[in-house]
Amino acid sequence: MGYLSTDKQKVTTKVFREMKQLGQKIAMLTAYDFTTAGILDRAGIDAILVGDSSSNVMAGNATTLPITVDEMIVYARGVVRACNHCLVVCDMPFGSYQVSREDALRNAVRIMKETGADAIKMEGGSEILPTVQAIIQAGIPVMAHLGLTPQSIHQFGGYGLRAKETQEAEKLFKDACLLDEAGCFGITLEKVPAALAQRVTAAVSCPTIGIGAGCDTDGQVLVYADALGMTHGFKPKFLRHFADVEGCMTQGVQDYIQAVKNVSFPNDNERY
Ligand code: KIV
Repeated sequence: MGYLSTDKQKVTTKVFREMKQLGQKIAMLTAYDFTTAGILDRAGIDAILVGDSSSNVMAGNATTLPITVDEMIVYARGVVRACNHCLVVCDMPFGSYQVSREDALRNAVRIMKETGADAIKMEGGSEILPTVQAIIQAGIPVMAHLGLTPQSIHQFGGYGLRAKETQEAEKLFKDACLLDEAGCFGITLEKVPAALAQRVTAAVSCPTIGIGAGCDTDGQVLVYADALGMTHGFKPKFLRHFADVEGCMTQGVQDYIQAVKNVSFPNDNERY
């Protein structure tokens, strides 16, 4: 069970680790704005990811690559303002940590300073290890992200399952151990075989958060718009719709249109 908003206990990266030790599953969703984040936080979500999936969900881009640090900062600020108890993690967008270690550190500091987020997330394994170490040494908590890393989509050539072959699976396992030793407080595992996610989860001290990685990870994350049935025509095998918000909104909008057209809105009690 998540920490209820009435508990008033702030979920920190330390609490995140404790939840793994206590065997408490971690429930995480994305959010990119004040209103949605407030609903999630009051509902008792453990953590919100201001994902670079904002590039798709908010900006309508085909990939996560175009979103900028400036845009992520605007989204994350709104989310942080709404959250009283959940952990807020902000994605480092594509290009903000690949150029140089100094540039990455500068961008990570900027995101923490200007958003008030609790932590950042970065995609990649051993290739970015020195950068991850430098950011952690600066006092910034880092969540790693392995498996299907959408910022590398042009290298992968598609959004299919990752690490099904032994070589890639072994690299992922080693990367997870390295990132855990480097002090990452969590590792996102996206679209990898459930057995591999289970093996990684058992091997690392930090919590693993799965998306399309089976039920043996320490927690789960989904893009909120997918989980709540707001994204049209996107239904990968791993996704479950927990609500039909598109249906609910469509009905509400149609009721509003009808009420305006037939002049039943506003009524006598809704005017001055
Ligand atoms: O950006 C995002 O939403 C993510 C999740 C899919 C893990 O990285």
